Amino acid sequence: MDYEAGLEMLKFFGADNRLVNHSVGVAGVAYELASKVNGHGVNPERVRVAGLLHDIGRTIGEPHEIYSGAILMNMDKKLAGIVRQHGFLYEKMKLAGIVVPDLLPVQMENKIVALADGYFGQRRMSLKERFDDIRERYQNDGMFVKAVDMAQGRFEQMEREIVRGKG
Ligand SMILES: [Fe+2]
Repeated sequence: MDYEAGLEMLKFFGADNRLVNHSVGVAGVAYELASKVNGHGVNPERVRVAGLLHDIGRTIGEPHEIYSGAILMNMDKKLAGIVRQHGFLYEKMKLAGIVVPDLLPVQMENKIVALADGYFGQRRMSLKERFDDIRERYQNDGMFVKAVDMAQGRFEQMEREIVRGKG
């Protein structure tokens, strides 16, 4: 699926302006990060489309990461694989006593999309700003804030690996 088709699909699924703005922003950052990573099987154009569609599952509900993967599975298996492991679902489930290692990004393309999501809310920002912003928006959901706290170190590690090239 190419970028234009992805944008049409996002709108077809009912994404509002906020979600489209976030998705387009994440796609741009993901492409930029992917273009600087050499090797690791990274295809910048594919990562861009995955960034665009990573939150398409939000048009259905939670856990949106799973829905994003499910929607794409029937259209583009590679994209489905990239979008599934973003966000904080691993930590949310762990807090519920369910440990699913498969929810953690392992492939470089997955990590790039997850990190790009950590750099762009409604605008480009640092990881710290983005995590503080999320904590503030979800301050009434104590469990979610706990999951976000747990996940922050994992995102900082991805940043070291992708942006600074240290594993
Ligand atoms: Fe997102």
